[in-house]
Amino acid sequence: MTALPTPRLRPEGSGLSDGFGRVARDLRVSVTDRCNLRCTYCMPAEGLPWMAKAEMLSDAEMLRVIGVFVGLGVRQVRLTGGEPLLRRSLVDLVVGIAALKPRPRIAMTTNGVGLARVAGALAEAGLDRVNVSLDTIDAETFSRLTRRNRLTDVEKGLAAAAEAGLAPVKVNAVAMRGVNDADVADVLSWCLDRGYELRFIEQMPLDAQHGWDRTQMVSADEIRSRLSERFTLTALPDADRGSAPAERFLVDGGPATVGIIASVSEPFCAACDRTRLTADGQVRNCLFSEVETDLRGPLRDGASDAELADLVSGEMWRKKRGHGIGEPGFTQPARPMSSIGG
Ligand code: 5AD
Ligand code: SF4
Repeated sequence: MTALPTPRLRPEGSGLSDGFGRVARDLRVSVTDRCNLRCTYCMPAEGLPWMAKAEMLSDAEMLRVIGVFVGLGVRQVRLTGGEPLLRRSLVDLVVGIAALKPRPRIAMTTNGVGLARVAGALAEAGLDRVNVSLDTIDAETFSRLTRRNRLTDVEKGLAAAAEAGLAPVKVNAVAMRGVNDADVADVLSWCLDRGYELRFIEQMPLDAQHGWDRTQMVSADEIRSRLSERFTLTALPDADRGSAPAERFLVDGGPATVGIIASVSEPFCAACDRTRLTADGQVRNCLFSEVETDLRGPLRDGASDAELADLVSGEMWRKKRGHGIGEPGFTQPARPMSSIGG
């Protein structure tokens, strides 16, 4: 990891800067904690105790808070969940975000199940790009992994996204030992055939069941060597990478590429430009934060935009150097991934 300077006291007008000199430009908004899949690495079969509607920000509240972030310098808003398509007003939210000044880029991370129906409307509303989570293209493995028989819906969703011009359509896959780790080359070849840009992500300790085990994790190295059994991978220079966490490779000489995100084995925290808002109005400066700043309470108590902005700046300033997975004292966040957002 690149060395970061020592933190100072927060100066006035620190915006979205943290004490290490990083500046957030990418806001991830979890619009719901619900999901229509039950991926084993994320949720128990019975689901989770979902947030009550009254705890969740309304569309107007969410837009106001996103506007505050944009005012502070956010340039990309990514909608996540849970499964973002389960928020019924999602298209309206996108319209509202697209109307902010300056208009941020708008992206979404979805499981793709309900995408076929709304991809066109979302694109029209202003959505620019999608990432669809798909860990396997084998129907039986998909059903075992997500506990739902919905692979065809995801395939249709991906096709609809491409059709709607939400390009480049990206696919995110998590490799799990003994589940889909033997299929990574199949997933790549499937994506190459359809023109989808695939990225593998190392599994992080974010499961609701707290069952993650480093020794079981399929590492980026391992994914690379499995892919290399079938494809020739040529690493693209790091300069093309910026704050994007994926190490990218040309596949068989290009132009197609595959990305591998070594979130655990090679953390990219030093280049992080992200911040997060949960569906119940909490700001998180990191996926792994143990603390949050509540905006919902102040918002409902009549706080001004300037006051909300100051709360956001305070939360950003205390962002830690890194996630610390594997270091002594690391604890998994109390909130599971499904209510933080990917
Ligand atoms: N580690 C890495 N990625 C995860 N995702 C969900 N849980 C984890 C985890 N523990 C992925 C999903 C989706 C995105 C939101 O994050 O598969 O692609
Ligand atoms: Fe749903 Fe995503 Fe969790 Fe799977 S990983 S259960 S798709 S929130």
